[in-house]
Amino acid sequence: MDKKLKAVILDGYTENPGDISWSCIEQLVDLTVYPRTSPDKIIERGKDADILIVNKVAITRELLEHLPNLKFVATLATGYNQLDCQALKEKCIPVSNIPAYSTNAVAQMVFAYILELINKVSEYTADVKSGTWCKCEDFCYWNSPLYELDGKTLGIIGFGKIGARVSRIAAAFGMRVLCYTPSGKKDGFPDVEFTDMDTVISNSDFISVHCPLTPDTAGLINKDFICRMKKASYIINTARGPVANEKDVAEALKNGTLAGYGTDVLSTEPPEEDNPLLSAPNCLITPHIAWAAYETRVRLMGILEQNIKAYLNGAPINVVNN
Ligand code: NAI
Repeated sequence: MDKKLKAVILDGYTENPGDISWSCIEQLVDLTVYPRTSPDKIIERGKDADILIVNKVAITRELLEHLPNLKFVATLATGYNQLDCQALKEKCIPVSNIPAYSTNAVAQMVFAYILELINKVSEYTADVKSGTWCKCEDFCYWNSPLYELDGKTLGIIGFGKIGARVSRIAAAFGMRVLCYTPSGKKDGFPDVEFTDMDTVISNSDFISVHCPLTPDTAGLINKDFICRMKKASYIINTARGPVANEKDVAEALKNGTLAGYGTDVLSTEPPEEDNPLLSAPNCLITPHIAWAAYETRVRLMGILEQNIKAYLNGAPINVVNN
């Protein structure tokens, strides 16, 4: 039997902190897994590898000079902007990514934010546990208006896999759905009104951002954007931190122009302690976990297995640097 190729996972911890198994990958290759790898350790750990498997570790043109055996790179994520794909292509090293594994989980998180922002379940629970209800004269109390989603308008920016899934959940809540996406109207979504960006911005009670981070979308959510929104509406960002100008968002939350911001992503991750959103009111922040449901990570492992199998069979799939 042929000797197995050597594969090294440089930063496997977030995909698999220990609750799933690497065994399907171990059956294919001679595997070494590192939970994390700092930039100064990449060469030492990767120099003998035929296959590198990475999540956020950057592979630069310079590093490639020190990775003589490298034949294939597999990512543990959809995004691959940390890889010098051009330099890898010049060396005929294909890069395979993991497309569309977290759509359900990210769409679910969007509604976790929306429901928390308007139903305030955890805020009221904390209030009740601190004794407020015990001292109440009436059988119930609320200290800010409560709203139904039915009839409210959700604006979606970017109608790919996640945006489409979000639209279906919104429709189930009885929401009106407006959408701006450069690719235009998509068939099969009779509940979605495809329109221009201005209409989405000025008519939505909630805006959920599902576009990639590109030079066009960096800083998209800024003071000007927020000022064009309906007063006291909400923004949800599960896309990428730099899509929002965090200083402008924090300011709008402080002065009440924006009623709430729910974000899974920040401009720097982990954030600096002085990130203005950390102290902004009505700002919900989760630590980039929208993708991280157990089922999602199991699905990711399955796609990684398929990507490696396809490479070993001489016909790599999900290649992003053709
Ligand atoms: P996708 O590639 O299926 O859809 C992206 C959509 O954005 C496409 O319809 C595209 O036409 C549109 N778009 C491109 N440029 C645009 C622009 N300038 N303005 C408005 N729309 C634009 O991607 P998918 O799977 O729906 O993911 C969306 C984003 O969600 C990803 O780019 C990623 O940044 C983020 N994401 C975040 C995760 C998390 O854990 N928080 C997990 C997975 C994805």
